[in-house]
Amino acid sequence: MYNSKIIGLGKYVPENIVTNDDLSKMMDTNDEWIQERTGIKERRWIKEGSEDTSAVMGAKAARIAIERSGLSKDDIDFIVFATLSPDYYFPGCGVQIQDMLDMPTIGALDVRNQCSGFIYAISVADQFIKTGMYKNILVIGAEYHSNGLDKTTRGRGVSVIFGDGAGAAVLSREEDTSKGILSTHLHSEGKYADKLIVASPSISHWVPEIIEAGEEDLSYFPYMDGTFVFKNAVVRFSEVIMEGLNKNSLKREDIDMLIPHQANLRIAQFIQKKFSLRDDQIFNNIQKYGNTTAASVVIALTEAWEEGKIKDGNTVVLAAFGSGFTWGSVIMKW
Ligand code: COA
Repeated sequence: MYNSKIIGLGKYVPENIVTNDDLSKMMDTNDEWIQERTGIKERRWIKEGSEDTSAVMGAKAARIAIERSGLSKDDIDFIVFATLSPDYYFPGCGVQIQDMLDMPTIGALDVRNQCSGFIYAISVADQFIKTGMYKNILVIGAEYHSNGLDKTTRGRGVSVIFGDGAGAAVLSREEDTSKGILSTHLHSEGKYADKLIVASPSISHWVPEIIEAGEEDLSYFPYMDGTFVFKNAVVRFSEVIMEGLNKNSLKREDIDMLIPHQANLRIAQFIQKKFSLRDDQIFNNIQKYGNTTAASVVIALTEAWEEGKIKDGNTVVLAAFGSGFTWGSVIMKW
């Protein structure tokens, strides 16, 4: 058995910055409400006419991650792509990456686990590397939310939160099993699927029915019971971080860097307080990007690393919670 280790990271966010003041011109909202409840100051939304999509942004982040890994695209053995906003209903974005990066005909897998998508994707890649089946795996998280949001006052409880962007990591075989990914922990609770959901179009409620219903049927916009999601998030985040620490006989003070999914700054601050972490033991960038779902953890990890906040030998913890509900954590020795 081997371990897997992140040897390259990259990110891409669209150029177009949308501030809270910009949103207040589209809907009845304001900078004070958004910052106070979520910590978000601005987000990136793909501009109309741009070539960017989840797959295109994922490819841009992936090229950077592969270059920084020192490998060539031809050294990659497998692709795992996490998104809830794929370019097509099918096929998934993973196969588009194989084509866009002109890679050999390697396998490509899409993961649909929403805000926990990158944690699930890393865990899948880690298992393939642990068993020796693959040596180098490209893991991508990317989201194109902005075109699917209700940008009127009706949708303000959801649309102000989400942003577009992508991140990528190259995972590689590590012979020293005291280094790299030490463990991953995955959970779900499907009875709450309808608490954060895009219900349509589904095969049993297809496009013509939605068009016919007109304004009566807005089930193609994301629905979120924000308060319920918030309450569950703080509990599950704490549990799954503790689970990872316990599994590796680590204590909360052993955490050098916690990268929580960027759902809401208040959730991250709650976790920071609960685990008595100093400001330099946790990384947040939701202020700049909003919630980029499957991309959020890998964009934050990339920025923390770029800013020199993650060093060799550090204990790094990734954790996420989101729609499904799904949640998970990754414990790594950098
Ligand atoms: N601007 C201004 N007012 C808004 C608003 C906006 N963008 N969105 C909602 N409001 C209003 C509501 O209509 C409501 O008004 P009312 O009291 O007159 O009915 C009021 O603000 C409070 O709404 P509520 O939804 O109770 O606010 P909240 O304190 O629960 O905060 C969230 C809302 C979404 C920020 C919060 O619930 C949250 O962050 N939840 C978790 C979300 C999350 O993490 N999602 C991703 C999962 S990974």
